[in-house]
Parts: sequence; C-alpha cells; structure tokens
Amino acid sequence: MYAAGVTCSNCHEPHSLQLRSNSDGVCSQCHLPEKFAQVDHHLHPVNSSGARCVNCHMPSKNYMQVDSRRDHSFRIPRPDLSDKLNTPNACLSCHQEQTNQWATDVLRRKFGAPDKSHYGEALHAGFFQAIDGEKKLSQLITDSTQPAIARATAVTLLPQYFTRHSAQLLQAIAQGNEPLLSLALAQSLDRVPAQFRPALGIPLLFERERITRSLAANALGSLPLNNYPGPVQKQFYTALKEYTASELFNSDRPESLVNLGELHRQRGNSSQAEVFFGEQLRVPPVMSLPT
Ligand code: HEC
Ligand code: HEC
Ligand code: HEC
Ligand code: HEC
Repeated sequence: MYAAGVTCSNCHEPHSLQLRSNSDGVCSQCHLPEKFAQVDHHLHPVNSSGARCVNCHMPSKNYMQVDSRRDHSFRIPRPDLSDKLNTPNACLSCHQEQTNQWATDVLRRKFGAPDKSHYGEALHAGFFQAIDGEKKLSQLITDSTQPAIARATAVTLLPQYFTRHSAQLLQAIAQGNEPLLSLALAQSLDRVPAQFRPALGIPLLFERERITRSLAANALGSLPLNNYPGPVQKQFYTALKEYTASELFNSDRPESLVNLGELHRQRGNSSQAEVFFGEQLRVPPVMSLPT
C-alpha cells in the first residue's frame, strides 16, 4: 500500500493519532465493502471477530512484552509458507487447535494456490545460507515491484555469496540511486572480501544519507586508501568523522565504545583503541533508570 501512495494520515488523524473511522471503516475508504466485507472474502460470520479486516491483515504482536501493536505491513495470510519458513500466520493465531496445513487447505479450496512466490522465501534462503540463496536473493533485489525494505534486507544477505554475478549486482547498487539499498550495502560491506571493498564502498561515501556515508567509511577504515585520488580521500575522511561523531554522541553506550575501539584497532591506533575498550569495561552492561 505504501508503494501505491497510502500513508499514515489516510487512516490516522495526524495530530491525535485517532483512527479516521472504526477499524474496518478505515479499510473501506478504499477497499469496497461489497467485495471484501463479505463471507465470500473472509469466510467468517459477518460482524464476528474472524471477519474483521485487521484480524487477518494486521494481526497484533506484543512488543517489549507489554505493548501490543498491530502489524502495519498489511500482509495477506500465507499459512502455506508457515511450515516451510517457520513463520506465524493470522489464521493459526486464533485457530490454535488447527494446523498450518488445515488453514492452507481451506484457503486453497476457496482461492486456489497463491500465484506469487513470496519475498520471505528468498530471505529465508539467505538467512540459512541455502545453496540456491544467491539466485533467490538476486531475483528479489532486481524485482522493483517488491517492497524496497524487503529488497534491502536481501542486499544485506547477498555478500555472503560473493561471486562474479553477485559482485556485479552489488556494484550496480553501489552506483544506483535507491537509498535503502545503498544503506543495506553499507551495513554489510564488512562482509565483502577486502580487495573488492573499495570498489563497492567508495561510491557510497558520496551518498546523500549520512548513515550510508558513515557506515561505508567505517567498513573501509582498515584499508589503505592512499592510492586513491584526492577527492576520494577527502570524502573518506569527512565520512569517517561523521561516523566517529555519531558514535561519540552515543558513547554512554558500551556498543559505541566498542565500535570506536574497534575502528582505532583496525587503523593501527592501539593506544586509542585501548582507551575506548577500557572505558567500555567501566560502563555497566545494563542501564539503570533514574529513580
Ligand atoms: C491502512 C490503515 C493504516 C495506515 C496506513 C496506518 N495505520 Fe496505524 N493503525 C491502523 C489500525 C487499524 C490500528 C489499530 C487500532 C486499534 O487497534 O485500535 C493502528 C494503530 C496504530 C498505532 C497504535 C499502536 C498502539 O497499539 O498503541 C500507531 C502508533 C500507529 N498506528 C501509527 C501509524 C503510523 C506512524 C503510520 C504511518 C507510517 C500508520 N499508523 C499507518 C491503521 C493504519
Ligand atoms: C487510502 C486507500 C487505502 C486504505 C485506507 C487501505 N488500503 Fe489496502 N490497498 C490500497 C491500495 C492502493 C492497494 C494496492 C492495490 C494494488 O496494488 O493492486 C492496497 C492493497 C492492500 C492489500 C494487498 C496487499 C498485497 O500484499 O497484495 C491488502 C491485504 C490491504 N490493502 C488491506 C487493507 C486493510 C486491512 C486496510 C484497513 C486497515 C486497508 N487496506 C486500507 C489502498 C488502501
Ligand atoms: C479471515 C481472514 C481475512 C479477513 C477477515 C479479511 N481478509 Fe482480506 N484476504 C484474506 C486472504 C486469505 C486473502 C488472499 C486471497 C487470495 O488469495 O485471493 C486476502 C486478500 C485481500 C486483499 C488483496 C486482494 C487482491 O486481489 O490482491 C485485500 C485488498 C483485502 N484482502 C482486503 C480486506 C478487507 C478490506 C477486509 C475487511 C473488510 C478483509 N480483507 C478481511 C483474508 C482475510
Ligand atoms: C480473530 C480470530 C480469527 C482469525 C484471525 C481467523 N479465524 Fe477462522 N474462525 C474464528 C472463529 C471464532 C470461528 C468460529 C465461527 C464464529 O463464530 O465466528 C472461525 C471459523 C472458521 C471456519 C469455519 C469453522 C471451522 O473451524 O471449520 C473456517 C474454515 C475458518 N475459521 C478459517 C480461517 C482461516 C483460513 C483463517 C485465516 C485466513 C481464519 N479462519 C482466521 C476466528 C478466527
């Protein structure tokens, strides 16, 4: 829906966050109730809990143990993938006594087999380093009809399959102009073999987003860049300063102190590294809240 231009304020009054209508009413602003608010679509008695749009397309999940939130990715339930990918689905969250196969059969009888492969299959293959992972991730990344956030996740998984083919694709991303994909490449650049890293990382130093520039500089930090043209070196040092500034800003956290120590270690500044690692040992691992 985001790709089609739907945004927060279509459903929420932006100042109060109140829904613009009762929860199924917000959906029927765009999706005809004559088509979707029907037993023929949702298979449940009208006005029952199983008939509410949000219960199938925005199932809720507890965050931080106490905060139940509805899923804003507005997915279609795919019980047929649950056994294969070990994923939850809305049907079984209510029908706890049933199996994924049961829900799959119900939907197949009604709607036929789902016609599309799902990006979850490619991401699963990448997470578990499946043999066909490179192919599936590459297909997802190059399919611009898929959500950018899913394609970007695939980019973070691709460097573990570093081949001539994946290197070409990563190079196209480094030189392309899709900010989320560039960020994902910067995040996973340290998994690219060192001799190929500058070719992918240098274009990222010139991105508009500070986070992308600074993560790329960090991943290039251990490599000699002296042979590169002056403007590249200048841009590298600028981005590296942005990286250290953001880590210093967060240096009340042990993670940031470790990152700074590691950067200095990789650049051969042992005494500086020791300072940050030492300081990190003094920060308690669990932050205590003010009483
Ligand atoms: C298509 C409709 C729709 C869109 C678009 C949408 N929301 Fe929601 N949102 C809902 C519904 C429905 C709920 C559930 C309300 C309830 O359970 O009472 C909800 C709940 C919430 C909540 C409350 C969570 C909680 O449990 O306290 C927040 C915060 C929120 N949305 C933020 C956003 C933001 C930010 C965006 C844009 C990025 C957005 N929503 C886009 C429909 C939408
Ligand atoms: C402002 C208009 C608007 C509102 C409000 C809206 N939708 Fe959508 N929705 C769309 C558009 C546009 C699409 C994309 C249609 C397409 O690509 O064919 C879509 C697609 C979908 C899809 C298909 C997603 C997919 O992966 O193929 C689902 C499911 C969905 N909406 C559910 C909901 C639910 C549930 C609500 C209410 C909480 C809601 N929508 C509210 C406009 C809206
Ligand atoms: C019991 C679960 C359930 C409920 C409740 C439900 N849906 Fe769906 N919805 C589905 C399933 C399953 C599909 C996929 C159907 C298919 O494969 O053709 C779907 C598909 C959709 C799509 C995508 C259609 C397309 O052609 O791509 C939209 C939009 C949608 N639902 C909107 C709604 C709205 C609006 C409501 C509330 C009035 C609603 N749904 C209630 C299960 C449900
Ligand atoms: C919010 C909870 C909820 C969700 C989500 C839900 N159901 Fe149901 N479902 C029910 C309840 C409750 C009944 C019993 C009928 C009634 O009184 O509403 C039911 C009845 C049914 C029935 C008919 C009775 C039976 O057990 O054979 C089928 C089939 C069914 N659901 C399939 C599904 C499928 C498939 C999905 C996912 C696409 C789904 N349901 C999602 C709550 C839910």
